[in-house]
Amino acid sequence: MDHVGSILGAASYYVVFEVQPKDGKPQVIATLREKAEERSSNGFRLMLELAKNLGEQDPVYKIFTQQIGQAQSMVKIETDGNAARSQYDIASKLYNGRYVEIDGFKFSFDSTSLTDSGPRFRLMEKAKGLHFNDLPEDTAEQKIFKKNLAKAYVTLEFYIILMGGEFDHDRHGYQMKVDGTEVRLFDHGAMSLHAPSTEDRKLLADVLFEGFERMQRGESIQTFLTNTVRQRAEAGTPSEYITTIQKGLLALSDYLRHMSANDIKLALQSAIQAGLEDGTLHSDLIEQAMMKAEAGGFSSGALSCQGEVIKIGQRLSK
Ligand SMILES: Nc1ncnc2c1ncn2[C@@H]1O[C@H](COP(=O)(O)OP(=O)(O)O)[C@@H](O)[C@H]1O
Ligand SMILES: [Mg+2]
Repeated sequence: MDHVGSILGAASYYVVFEVQPKDGKPQVIATLREKAEERSSNGFRLMLELAKNLGEQDPVYKIFTQQIGQAQSMVKIETDGNAARSQYDIASKLYNGRYVEIDGFKFSFDSTSLTDSGPRFRLMEKAKGLHFNDLPEDTAEQKIFKKNLAKAYVTLEFYIILMGGEFDHDRHGYQMKVDGTEVRLFDHGAMSLHAPSTEDRKLLADVLFEGFERMQRGESIQTFLTNTVRQRAEAGTPSEYITTIQKGLLALSDYLRHMSANDIKLALQSAIQAGLEDGTLHSDLIEQAMMKAEAGGFSSGALSCQGEVIKIGQRLSK
């Protein structure tokens, strides 16, 4: 190692700083903080006690404790250095070599490669450029660029969810760096390590189906998902998968806030179309949606939208 550079980030569990190997490209190392596990389990214990004190009779109690339980298992994965390798492997399969074409722009997406990892650290390639959230919005041109990137990335995330496999539900605007039209993604601590079940995917199809109709009526898909999660928790039939998707959308709000309702609809439709064309849209989703359409007299208008379709492709060389 030639040189240890500045600290790039210091969140509750990891400290992240830049290192420069003697020869080779700059790297980034994330090291787990001292006592991170202890501090997190204390925090969760306090939250559970608080929830209890607020009243176990309150219908919100169920949702709250369920969310705490989920957050707890997420932190376990996030602070498990051994999970990083699998998470980065999945991320590179999902993202590497993708490009998205929109309105004359062609954005490329890649995950950063993981050089090494261990129980308490991960070493990875340094992504160049600015965080999405830090991209300037001063001129009209900059605004257009940022908006198009938001649309492109959200379309890609929808497309990945529609593959019906693993996905990362914490893709907020500080988890990518943008260098020209080249986008690099990092921090895959929220990448699921298991694919959802057929049951889960059917449920997703149901939710999407209804979500689509609601979008037709001008409601937001985010609100609809949040309500679905709440209703299921209250009814005692929570779905961890749907909750995770809702969280994923929440993280994506850094991008969604640059998009109109019609943009969001267009992104979802483009993702569906891309997945149908290249065969990656999961067959469980297609079957369930077709069943619902036959049963419910699906209005074909739900699929029409203003705007040019956003195209997703795969570069040949990885
Ligand atoms: N591979 C990377 N390349 C460039 N910057 C990075 C990289 N990994 C992390 N960073 C920087 O460090 C910050 C925190 O890292 P991150 O892995 O997201 O940890 P956490 O979300 O736990 O704080 C990021 O927002 C980013 O600015
Ligand atoms: Mg992060």
